[in-house]
Amino acid sequence: MILEKINSLRAEIEAAQASTPEDVEQLRIKYLSKKGAMNALMADFRTVPGDMKREVGQKINELKEFATARINSLRNAYASSATQVEEEIDLTRTATPAGLGTRHPLSIVRNEMLRIFADMGFTIAEGPEVEDDWHVFESLNFPPDHPARDMQDTFFISRDPKDILLRTHTSSVQTRVMESVKPPIRIVCPGRVYRNEAISARAHCFFHQVEGLYIDKNVSFADLKQVLLGFARRMFGPETRIRLRPSYFPFTEPSAEMDISCDICGGKGCAFCKGTGWVEILGCGMVDPNVLEACGIDSKVYTGYAFGMGIERITNLKYKVKDLRMFSENDVRFLRQFESAK
Ligand code: DAH
Repeated sequence: MILEKINSLRAEIEAAQASTPEDVEQLRIKYLSKKGAMNALMADFRTVPGDMKREVGQKINELKEFATARINSLRNAYASSATQVEEEIDLTRTATPAGLGTRHPLSIVRNEMLRIFADMGFTIAEGPEVEDDWHVFESLNFPPDHPARDMQDTFFISRDPKDILLRTHTSSVQTRVMESVKPPIRIVCPGRVYRNEAISARAHCFFHQVEGLYIDKNVSFADLKQVLLGFARRMFGPETRIRLRPSYFPFTEPSAEMDISCDICGGKGCAFCKGTGWVEILGCGMVDPNVLEACGIDSKVYTGYAFGMGIERITNLKYKVKDLRMFSENDVRFLRQFESAK
């Protein structure tokens, strides 16, 4: 009797299936718990005649081991198939396939510019786009009501006093760094700037600049010229020539604007360079002692140079983009053209 029971239980357990952890638990309760089938067998065992106890006892033990192993293996099978499913389905993917974008031309050119300056030992510094009058104008030697402010009209955040505004140039980051770090300072500052301009093919109310600043003992105009020549040659090719024309910025003295030889006509003169053979790319100069002093740097000990250029301008020269507005219209037919330019 009891041997038959053992055999039929074994067949039953062997055929048992489970597809969820709850199923496995039900099987465990049915066979291995206190009120389960194995314990019921032990009750029957008491009635087994003495000479058969050994044999039957051994069979019961074997069945118990078999049942435990079977239930464990069902549990493991479920657990491993669950992890397999997790591996196959990436739950972080978007439901609708999103096309892979391309890098924006301004990002491509900005990264290239920063790479060149990083190789020359410049580190990157950044500052806020919403600035105060001190960092954008006053500290940079633009006194209130000075006509130099007319060149850089902007958008004001506060009305009275008109003290909080959108920065018109990344030169404001110069001040922020000079106020907080002791020389030597060698930084480039990339970022977005704003001006109150009518939007056209050649002007926009926001654009991007990279500013450079080097402050140390004995920094000269020759150092500035060498760094800018090195930059121009890596950016536009080893044959590129530069020329510096005297100019005016409140925060540098002397100041200059730099032209590079036109890479379309090689300097002979064409429509692009308006027959001059040169195209303007940046402003630069020796940092005015007033600026150093405003930022707490002793102008009798330290000198320095600064330069600033528009990323759109450099990008236009590299890729001959004729209309500035293309950069912010998000037209993929325009943006995709730079895919291979990385
Ligand atoms: N901040 C100037 C502008 O936006 C560009 C500039 C000119 C930056 C000369 C400089 C500099 O650091 O030395 O027009």
